[in-house]
Amino acid sequence: MTLIDGKAVSAAVKERIKKEIEEKNLKIGLAVVIVGTDQASRVYVNNKKKACEFCGITSYEYALPEETTEEQLLELVDKLNGDGNVNGILVQLPLPNQIDEKKIIERINPEKDVDAFNAVNVGKIMIGDYSFLPCTPAGVMELIKSTGTEISGKECVVIGRSNIVGKPMAMLLLHENATVTVCHSKTRNLKEVCSRADILVSAVGKAGFVTADMVKEGALVIDVGMNRNAEGKLCGDVDFNSVKDKCGFITPVPGGVGPMTIAMLMENTLRAGKLQSL
Ligand code: GUN
Repeated sequence: MTLIDGKAVSAAVKERIKKEIEEKNLKIGLAVVIVGTDQASRVYVNNKKKACEFCGITSYEYALPEETTEEQLLELVDKLNGDGNVNGILVQLPLPNQIDEKKIIERINPEKDVDAFNAVNVGKIMIGDYSFLPCTPAGVMELIKSTGTEISGKECVVIGRSNIVGKPMAMLLLHENATVTVCHSKTRNLKEVCSRADILVSAVGKAGFVTADMVKEGALVIDVGMNRNAEGKLCGDVDFNSVKDKCGFITPVPGGVGPMTIAMLMENTLRAGKLQSL
């Protein structure tokens, strides 16, 4: 088994971005919006700001209180849409219940939608005409490629069908000519389907969900899960200890997909800046 080092691959991507921004003397800005006090969101947002600083991207943080109304958040998005210093807008999810996430996402100018959550960008992903790559799936593709594994013609199984990960993940793999199966809570014979996978991507959100009996010998296993186990320790969806002896490659949690998501966000922000200066 070979461990896939997400931190190292992510560092290389960020170095490349930093170098390009320096060499071309680009002025790039990312607005990072967080509503409420969710602890996980706070950690993600801090990491995104740190990555900006490393790459030479100016980050503008907007931390709004839990009781922020939908109207107030829409107002902020409008302001950021019109702000020439802001090339990318990231609204950290989840949002408090009184705010309709879909409404907020759709209000972001698609040219500044560096998460690629907006319907315009999702549509572009479907037809393979990308402005922005969806950050987490794009990070997963980089990790797969870092192993030298050929994707074309392979059996790929994605567990989870969220708009943020599962669905766009399937699309990126399909564009690389994989045979893709998407599994979800209603899938019958989950174990049997997963056991066929040369490349298995889990984005379920349940600690220990993927066990060794679901993994084909020598498979490449990508763990998108970000969970806390009974002891409160950060862990993925994959039962790492049993799966590691069966698979060919595996991503750890933490230090696998997580850092890649952020590196891809930096890439999208740079791309937004360049597209807007054309
Ligand atoms: N919440 C969980 N993942 C993400 C992400 O990739 N982007 C944003 N904005 N919020 C998230």
